[in-house]
Amino acid sequence: MNSLVFFFLFSLFISLAYCDIEFDFCVGDISRQTSPVGYACKNRATVTIDDFIFTGFRVQKTTTNIYKANATLAFTNTFPGLNGLGIATSKIDLGVGGVIPAHTHRTSEFIIVVKGSIIAGFVDTNNTAYFKRLEVGDVMVFPPTLVHFQVNAGKTSATAYSGYNGANPGIQLITNSLLAGNLPTDLITQITLVNPLEIARLKSLFGITNA
Ligand SMILES: *[C@@H]1O[C@H](CO)[C@@H](O)[C@H](O)[C@H]1NC(C)=O
Ligand SMILES: *[C@@H]1O[C@H](CO)[C@@H](O)[C@H](O)[C@H]1NC(C)=O
Repeated sequence: MNSLVFFFLFSLFISLAYCDIEFDFCVGDISRQTSPVGYACKNRATVTIDDFIFTGFRVQKTTTNIYKANATLAFTNTFPGLNGLGIATSKIDLGVGGVIPAHTHRTSEFIIVVKGSIIAGFVDTNNTAYFKRLEVGDVMVFPPTLVHFQVNAGKTSATAYSGYNGANPGIQLITNSLLAGNLPTDLITQITLVNPLEIARLKSLFGITNA
């Protein structure tokens, strides 16, 4: 092979080797296990536009539950196109009297109110609460990991959209973690100071009948 052809092939090899198309995106392969850094990439040949679109916010969700609320989470497991991008979103539907109860995420969050009015707040690590009634168009941020909440403050249903600086923010509702799981009542009393009769009453709201 003459040196010109060799040079051409060598250049092609170098440009392919350094081509960074593999880093453009990594749609999550949600059929496989996730990890702290996200999912493995779905085979690029099977990626379509629909991997980058989430349609779960179209419908109005029902809010006939204990919190009179319904959060639709567009996190990596429901929106695999987010994998590796460090962002996520959700929609919060609050019925009249509805609440997203005290909860935490691994990430920061902001909300934008698009319907109704919402009292939103968080509590810092010094137990100082920051909360305010938000109206349509208002945006509020919640620092990472701090306990926060949203409460419908109006006489109609309310809706907000959220954004997060992580593709898998997680969500942990404090009340559910303590009362709707497998913690024994005496241990809950010890770690919360709430008396056992009240704990039994609260557990029954979640259909939990263990001691
Ligand atoms: C949220 O809404 C969907 C659709 O209306 C419903 O199937 C689901 O049970 C609701 N979730 C809760 C917690 O009420
Ligand atoms: C922490 O909380 C205490 C009691 O409410 C308050 O006096 C103090 O100023 C707070 N400290 C900070 C740094 O916010």
